Amino acid sequence: MKVGVAKETAAGERRVALVPEALGKLTAAGLEVLVEAGAGDGAMIPDQAFRDAGATVLATDELYAQSEVILRVQKPAGAEVARLRSGQALVGLLSPLLDPTLMQTLAEAGVTAVSLDAIPRTLSRAQTMDALSSQANVGGYKAVLVAANAYGRYFPLLTTAAGTAKPANVLILGIGVAGLQAIGTARRLGAVVAAYDVRPETAEQAESLGAKFVRLRTAIDATGSGGYARALTPEEQAAQQAELNEVIGNQDVVITTAQVPGRKPPVLVTAAAVANMRPGSVIVDMAASALGGNCELSQAGETVVTANGVTIISPENLPASMPASSSQFYARNISALLLGMVKGGALALDFDDEVTRATVIAHGGKVTSDAVAKLLAPAGGNA
Ligand code: NAI
Repeated sequence: MKVGVAKETAAGERRVALVPEALGKLTAAGLEVLVEAGAGDGAMIPDQAFRDAGATVLATDELYAQSEVILRVQKPAGAEVARLRSGQALVGLLSPLLDPTLMQTLAEAGVTAVSLDAIPRTLSRAQTMDALSSQANVGGYKAVLVAANAYGRYFPLLTTAAGTAKPANVLILGIGVAGLQAIGTARRLGAVVAAYDVRPETAEQAESLGAKFVRLRTAIDATGSGGYARALTPEEQAAQQAELNEVIGNQDVVITTAQVPGRKPPVLVTAAAVANMRPGSVIVDMAASALGGNCELSQAGETVVTANGVTIISPENLPASMPASSSQFYARNISALLLGMVKGGALALDFDDEVTRATVIAHGGKVTSDAVAKLLAPAGGNA
């Protein structure tokens, strides 16, 4: 079976779905790897490195014509969707819940759509395939570097002949994958780190990395299912915001990573909290998107400097700014998922398998994901 690695076309995207080091396992399983010319450019991987690892480098038309499976990072743009044909499989971070219409288009075109964002996080067998986690890890690390870069002072306590620098107080809100990596990174830079989450089990994890866990008097336990939090009630959220306002005023840097899957990000940093921060303070809102962010003043993809001198940065694609590492980890994830679906060198989908059931969104002309079909139903779609 021929597996093609497509070149990413989204603005600012520098990742590539496969790296040369990942080819060995695929070829050992009887797969032939094709790579679109220039696919690795953004990640500083020349075509020749793919050739040296055993891949064939092809122009765009040939890649789409010959590949039985297309591997990508982000979902395809319109022109790329038009290149896909019946019987072909597409594997990537397809955001099926954010773009159900694309899933329907793929289904109608007879394309098998497999999405890495649907991998069950709590299934230990699927951990090597969990691209959202591997990319959030990169994001959490980079968010701290972005904050440090925008902060006009040292992070560590520093005593020099010219005076002493006080350590920065860094607060991490949301102690999931990105939050834990942000704690570790801020600690390694020498900051004094505090962290908060609505799942009490995260306290021990944060403390083991050297952060002080912030315990609110209202102490909301919002543990949900599947390792995620549940959304707070409006009353709980108001109580949480009021208490966090007091904590945030003392911070130099706040990094926010709170999310409940499928929901608008919770507002943890209100405009009033920002107004209480000192000039020169920095907020990096990792959760910001078109739906809003964890900070009331965030603008997705933008940097906002408030009247009181607080910089609020809302980067949309931090993993793309570390394309070599993020591609390396993504390649491992996508290879593990693909290999689990291959038997005797060909794609063999087994819908009794939990990972296959969760990740195959469209197959055989139909949207196979119940969650996506439900989203399409009101528009007279596929449910
Ligand atoms: P995660 O699900 O592992 O962690 C989110 C954490 O937020 C959980 O621990 C949850 O308990 C906590 N949380 C939920 N509601 C809360 C509330 N009201 N108060 C306090 N904590 C709350 O998610 P992960 O993988 O760490 O990703 C975090 C965010 O970063 C997501 O929004 C993700 O989309 C985003 N992300 C952004 C990137 C970027 O470039 N901007 C890159 C990668 C991820």
